[in-house]
Amino acid sequence: MKGQPKDWVSFWDAPHSIYVNARHLDLHYRDTAAGIIGFIPSPQARVLDYGCGEALHADRVAAAAAALTLCEAASNLRARLARRFSGNAKIRVMAPEEVEEQPDASYDLIVANSLVQYLSAAELDRLLALWRRLLAPAGRLVIGDVIPPNVSALSDAVALLHYAARGGFLMAAILGLVRTAFSPYRSIRARLGVSCYSEAEFLARLSAAGYAAERAPRNIEHNPARMTFVARPQ
Ligand SMILES: C[S@@+](CC[C@H](N)C(=O)[O-])C[C@H]1O[C@@H](n2cnc3c(N)ncnc32)[C@H](O)[C@@H]1O
Repeated sequence: MKGQPKDWVSFWDAPHSIYVNARHLDLHYRDTAAGIIGFIPSPQARVLDYGCGEALHADRVAAAAAALTLCEAASNLRARLARRFSGNAKIRVMAPEEVEEQPDASYDLIVANSLVQYLSAAELDRLLALWRRLLAPAGRLVIGDVIPPNVSALSDAVALLHYAARGGFLMAAILGLVRTAFSPYRSIRARLGVSCYSEAEFLARLSAAGYAAERAPRNIEHNPARMTFVARPQ
């Protein structure tokens, strides 16, 4: 990556090496899609994937739902998504500003996986209010991969190696970890920071925003130290 990104959205919008190879990237999005599908309440559900990233397997999510909105702030990523899914009538790609214009109760399931660590607490609260407005009364909000305080880089690395061993890309993951150690990601993370919440803090934030919530037994993603929350409007 050339230069230093000014914020996290710019980081995700430019080429980076967070996924150690094509297999890792594919498996990550395959597993994330499967995780989202597990929360879809019925084939009639309208689903919003907020901060969806590459969403390589969004067609699988769309096949299990009535409609899928992919919301992504990064403009290059958004353009790729629009091209990738242009032939799928169930999928719409939107910028955050477009999502804000959607009517109340537009969605039955809203998922934000691996997003909130890249938001300030104030931005999280603003999105919690937006999502509450956009959720149908019986809808669900699922927020995944929330990082608790005091999770070390070592535990992230160990979780990646376990995932890689299961997924058949262990050697690439080892090389990728070495690369990451010397890559701009570390200095960017040190400069921009990531938001961390304890389970109690995050539940309190959800409650203050008007949700009844609980922590799911398992994180959507492979890292068991991170948390997934399921919330419904109250
Ligand atoms: C770590 S990636 C996660 C992507 C995907 N959800 C996943 O589970 O792999 C975070 C994504 O959130 C996007 N993002 C960050 N801030 C955002 C915001 N305020 N609104 C929408 N998307 C945002 C980034 O551009 C990036 O693509």
